[in-house]
Amino acid sequence: MATGSVENNSSWLKKLNLTWVTRLFTSSIGRKMVMGATGLGLCGFLVVHLAGNLFLYKGREAYDGYAHALHEQEWLPLAEAGLFALFLLHIYLAFVTTWENRRARSKSYVMRESKRQDRVIAAPVGSPSNWMFVSGAVVLGFLILHIIDMKLQLRPDVQHYAEHESFANAIAVLSNPVSQVVYCLGTVFLGFHLSHGFSSAFQSLGLNHPKYTPTIKVVGLIFAVVVAAGFFLLPIIVPMSPGLVEQAKQVEVSIDEAPAATAHP
Ligand code: HEM
Repeated sequence: MATGSVENNSSWLKKLNLTWVTRLFTSSIGRKMVMGATGLGLCGFLVVHLAGNLFLYKGREAYDGYAHALHEQEWLPLAEAGLFALFLLHIYLAFVTTWENRRARSKSYVMRESKRQDRVIAAPVGSPSNWMFVSGAVVLGFLILHIIDMKLQLRPDVQHYAEHESFANAIAVLSNPVSQVVYCLGTVFLGFHLSHGFSSAFQSLGLNHPKYTPTIKVVGLIFAVVVAAGFFLLPIIVPMSPGLVEQAKQVEVSIDEAPAATAHP
């Protein structure tokens, strides 16, 4: 009797959870909410990532100290998997909602055409949703190169001072002219993406109020400028700091010689 009621409860719970999750992904409001939540999660990552990168200005000891302390954390693989999931979900939903918007737009176009209205409904090229997709796609392109640079360290045109050394690798990448152009462009597009995305995420989550929305928009704009400028300045200031480049050149430790000190994720 008791077992039966537990089973009933758990199947009821399963059904409820499934309905809730299904609704999140099958309704356009649900999808917008997930996009907003994942977007805000990624904003949180950007703050932490930028704060960590600021150690580069302090030199090798400070940056490698920070990088080694981070890489020793047992929770890091879990956090990286979570971050990867956030990116995947955000990107997937960006494609789905953009496709849906286009389909809805062309449907309304066809309907109005069939009513023989002369007015042509042009796709709003400069609309925020279009612009969010384009800027997001550019940031994604930057991100792919960035992972190849920093995590995989596979760029053949980057002159590496030492293999698998966090500080030396970051300085080598940031001193490369191709990286400088791509990183600066990527962060400008990131700024545009955040300038609309931050406040729009609050709206998607239903946090929309005539009293608070203007403030959220201003905070979003400040957030976008500060984060984008913070990343943008790194490939400009770092190569112009001879002290930092010299420190990177002096790193001649190979993995074979000092495996513990050169550990990289
Ligand atoms: C332009 C300045 C930037 C620098 C110098 C920089 C530096 C780095 C470094 C050194 C790593 C490797 C970290 C590690 O091994 O633990 C890394 C990883 C990463 N960066 Fe950046 N980054 C920059 C901008 C960005 C931006 C703008 C984004 C996002 C749009 C981003 C997203 C990532 C991601 C997703 C990873 C992989 C994180 C992980 O798997 O732990 N980075 N970055």
